[in-house]
Amino acid sequence: MSGKNITIIGLQWGDEGKGKIVDALSGDCRYVVRFCGGANAGHTVIVGDEKYALHLIPSGILRTGVRNVIGNGVAFDPEVAVEEIEGLRSRGVEVGDENLAISSAANVVMPWHKLADRLNETRLGAGKIGTTARGIGPLYSDKATRTLAVRAGDLLDADVLKGKVARIAEVKNAIFSALYGHTEPIDAEAVAGKYLDYGKQLGGMITDTGAVIRRAISEGSRVCFEGGQGSMLDIDHGTFPFVTSSSVTACGVPSGAGVSPKSVGRVVGIAKAYTSRVGAGPFPTEQDNEIGNRLRERGREYGTTTGRPRRCGWFDATAVRYAADLSGVDELALMLLDVLSGFETLRICTGYRVDGVDLGVFDSVAAVMGRAECVYEDMPGWEEDIASAKDFSDLPAAARAYVERISALVGRPVGLISVGPERKQTILYDTQLQGPVAGG
Ligand code: IMP
Repeated sequence: MSGKNITIIGLQWGDEGKGKIVDALSGDCRYVVRFCGGANAGHTVIVGDEKYALHLIPSGILRTGVRNVIGNGVAFDPEVAVEEIEGLRSRGVEVGDENLAISSAANVVMPWHKLADRLNETRLGAGKIGTTARGIGPLYSDKATRTLAVRAGDLLDADVLKGKVARIAEVKNAIFSALYGHTEPIDAEAVAGKYLDYGKQLGGMITDTGAVIRRAISEGSRVCFEGGQGSMLDIDHGTFPFVTSSSVTACGVPSGAGVSPKSVGRVVGIAKAYTSRVGAGPFPTEQDNEIGNRLRERGREYGTTTGRPRRCGWFDATAVRYAADLSGVDELALMLLDVLSGFETLRICTGYRVDGVDLGVFDSVAAVMGRAECVYEDMPGWEEDIASAKDFSDLPAAARAYVERISALVGRPVGLISVGPERKQTILYDTQLQGPVAGG
């Protein structure tokens, strides 16, 4: 349980399979901490015959002895939290103060955030971001505005919450009516009552989680920081404005969890063996054709949170390298390699051509990436089903060469290779991670 912390970061546009790796690594961790995003995330964990889709609760919840933390940087939606906790309990998973803590400083997603998200997207029409409609952008806007924010700690104080909700509702009613012609007023009293009730249900879990984690680290406990979304969706470093609204790279860990930058530990970058994206925005290697359809069907590429079909395309080594550099990735986990069986040729993007000029690095300016043509390197594919491979040497030569080429282009060792959704379908390769990564 002691030793170096682990940070798990998505290196693409989300949905890389972080939940599976956090679950695998959390067997050796005392804490699993979410530091960014909110219920827009969808982390799938499969244990035996059971499949769990987690949105807000950290993926360590399925391991006994692991304390899960929703950090201050998370957009905390108590409605989703209560629903998810009840869902887990109904399936025999214990959730309580001893294994789940929620930061009192986390900002709370209120009903008006979800409404604003929907109204704003409708207003944008063809120019919309394609959000998950979970209120994420409006929540973080209000956090930055400060005077319109509710924090999880406020759910425990009736006077404070009632006062805040009444004041904020007045502002929101004016904005909704003037901007969107939405005239149905917010019932401030009813909202305050509902959220106080959430406070009662979650009360024992709401605490100063930063202090808890810092103490745990100083006492030698190992912490796993669980990233949400993917680096290309980062508010500062992603393909802005087609991004989410929080800091999702390893740079977001210290502020989003309330720990020192020195606590980030070993950074594991998660990437699919191909690429997917859900929502609007540039995606240079997208295959809006039979290849993309095949990847979507074989990879079951439909959103965990929204059910939307994901856009699919080839592996973009230039984008993944950019993301790996941003987070200081130590090793890669290459996910869904099994999905690529049966392709005669596999393409890897090694750079771009924009307006006739070669670009060897990723440029996060959406307009530039929107015009980028990919420079591809082709590699032979393989026919064999690899879902039961246990060791790197069990993989066909072409699959091994594909993995090695990705490692060379991204400039990082491939530590873990996933060949299926189950815990045991994880190959340990060039890793320095210890503990029950596979088979647990
Ligand atoms: P928002 O985070 O709901 O505001 O959505 C902004 C963009 O990020 C949209 O393109 C979403 O589809 C995308 N997005 C947000 N969260 C996730 C995620 O967990 N996986 C994949 N895409 C996401």
